[in-house]
Amino acid sequence: MDKIYLDFAATTPLDRRALDAMRPYFDETFGNPSSVHRFGQQAEAAVDAARETVSTVLNCRPDEVIFTSCGSESDNLALRGTALAMRAKNGANRIVSSKAEHHAVSKTAEQLEKFYGFQVNWLELDENGMVTPAAVEKALSTGTAIVSVMYANNEIGTINPIKEIAEVCHRHGVLFHTDAVQAAAYLFVDVQALGVDLLSLGGHKFYGPKGVGALYVRKGTALIPSQTGGGQEFGLRAGTQNVPYLVGFAEALRLTAQEREARVAHVRPLRDRMIGTILEEIPDSQLTGHPEKRLPQHASFVFKNLDGNLLLTLLDSAGFACSSGSACKTGNPEPSEVMSAIGLSREWGLGSLRVTLGNSTTPAQVDAFLNALPGLVEQTRLLGKK
Ligand SMILES: Cc1ncc(COP(=O)(O)O)c(C=O)c1O
Repeated sequence: MDKIYLDFAATTPLDRRALDAMRPYFDETFGNPSSVHRFGQQAEAAVDAARETVSTVLNCRPDEVIFTSCGSESDNLALRGTALAMRAKNGANRIVSSKAEHHAVSKTAEQLEKFYGFQVNWLELDENGMVTPAAVEKALSTGTAIVSVMYANNEIGTINPIKEIAEVCHRHGVLFHTDAVQAAAYLFVDVQALGVDLLSLGGHKFYGPKGVGALYVRKGTALIPSQTGGGQEFGLRAGTQNVPYLVGFAEALRLTAQEREARVAHVRPLRDRMIGTILEEIPDSQLTGHPEKRLPQHASFVFKNLDGNLLLTLLDSAGFACSSGSACKTGNPEPSEVMSAIGLSREWGLGSLRVTLGNSTTPAQVDAFLNALPGLVEQTRLLGKK
């Protein structure tokens, strides 16, 4: 049987068109973009063109786009860079973030707390996993350096009201960063419309290459670089640029923006059928995340009294690649922070399943999955009782 990939939120395959755009920059046009000679100039022109393309999609100036090595690095630079800069500027020592953030944000905030003396205020989620503007407003206090709330959640797909949260932050004169690593594949990432000061992207979530990301930094935002050295990326991120990857990143993002409507129209009905059928056919099942305000390719569930990791193994043996939200620690699996933050008890939170669709997902693949899942859930529950 063919393997069926239903884990597009983990990563996507590289778009062939992005790969074609990248190819010349591995060997033919190999110069260092910082070199003065024509080899360097050609490489620099490719970096400039990629930056221009990204800035068009984000609706910002090219010099507000900082290329990085991944979404995680963008999050690190955004948080650490603004926290340290704001403290140097006005003594701010507080960070506000949410209990739903990816570790790229939450572990960075924890490190800033543990080793740099910042105080982090973790925002609660509502039962749909959403961060409300009211919760943000309540958490703001004098001395807040940065607020970081993700655009869309990787585990449960919930989309946060980013524009409204940005407005609240700005009313209080506080910087706002959003992690848009999951969102960019399907949602608008117009930074003017969203009103954000910083926004993180990672290439491999929207059919670009792995190992490349970008951070939008609004002009005039105080930011201390995490990586020091040469003056690349306007002095905010040292290191010779990975030219082919930046080119691939830009082309994949351009195609994503251009084809957004068609991509959404393709996955949404498949996703809706998936959610409807699973909730109807599988006893003791719940949708996690927001029922409507969720990523269009994203279906996520919890099943009561079920070992989510065992289900993933059985699914894999049956040919389906999916994901769960529980971190498997040997012998003692724990529900993920997000499952706990949306109020799920252990007997529900351990049985999570994430199914994420993509451009190549077919109705026949969804049918095959829906035929197999109820039996595999039952089998997992039985094995868990032994
Ligand atoms: C919401 C979110 N932020 C950040 C990241 C990290 O991105 P990268 O894998 O490019 O470092 C991910 C990846 O799963 C993510 O889902």
